[in-house]
Amino acid sequence: MLSYQHAYHAGNHADVLKHVVLLALLAKLAGKDKPLRYIETHAGAGGYDLRAPAARKNREYLGGIGKIWNAGGMPEAVARLVDLVRRYNDGATTVERYPGSPWLAREMLRPTDSVYLFELHPAENRALEHALGADRRVTVLRVNGLEGCIGLVPPPERRGLVFVDPSYETKDEHSQVVDALHKAHRRFATGTYAIWYPVLERRWVERFERAVRGIGIDAVDVYELRVAPDGRGEGLTGSGMIVANPPWRVREELAIALPWLARELGVDGGGSYRIGD
Ligand SMILES: C[S@@+](CC[C@H](N)C(=O)[O-])C[C@H]1O[C@@H](n2cnc3c(N)ncnc32)[C@H](O)[C@@H]1O
Repeated sequence: MLSYQHAYHAGNHADVLKHVVLLALLAKLAGKDKPLRYIETHAGAGGYDLRAPAARKNREYLGGIGKIWNAGGMPEAVARLVDLVRRYNDGATTVERYPGSPWLAREMLRPTDSVYLFELHPAENRALEHALGADRRVTVLRVNGLEGCIGLVPPPERRGLVFVDPSYETKDEHSQVVDALHKAHRRFATGTYAIWYPVLERRWVERFERAVRGIGIDAVDVYELRVAPDGRGEGLTGSGMIVANPPWRVREELAIALPWLARELGVDGGGSYRIGD
């Protein structure tokens, strides 16, 4: 079942959190003078038009990138995202387009790095191929990313980031994520893994986090941003990124970014964050 379409949600608060964390990880990993492999299991279309009917339906981006686009005093980790979104908008004064994670990631990578992008949905896969396929570092695959990523680790570079951004459409998708992480980590224990999760129900988040931690990976950080208190029954009130084997000092940067994001993106002052290990 592939009914989820990211175009409806592009640029919302969850995308902002996810992409701030992703870029902070890549800035640190690409800061070392050694090649790395970037693998994305659920890549989406690569970019989204915020003026198109899907994005205009609920205008979710107004509660995310739209709120911080012109903000002052941005922490470095947030400015990194906003600068790239501005570049993606070719100097437009208002935000009209929002880049997908594959485009953002590619901007951080060097000529010696490699990129593997999995996207199962035929139309999204075509759009992704069109957006990024001409780059010779990039391979776009129409295969289940949770299965496909296992065969791509460990990379010959011995350094890599696996980014997992599912839509959690089916009941057992979270256990498939945990299972894939377990298998990938057994083959590539030193890799960095970043997994996005939604905050819809606190008990679900607790169970998911416990299951990930149960794998026994040495270092696991959690970066969670909520724009409203849990359980207000208003859909997605927050989201988080679970990061296994985070690069050195990424946490210090995100510890400055998350309180700022909670303040700026919180609805009626109801924003909060959690950083846990
Ligand atoms: C949340 S969206 C990805 C958004 C993207 N990571 C970004 O931040 O720009 C999830 C995508 O995963 C795709 N998808 C769902 N199940 C998949 C699977 N098992 N393997 C690969 N892609 C899948 C969906 O079609 C959808 O485009």
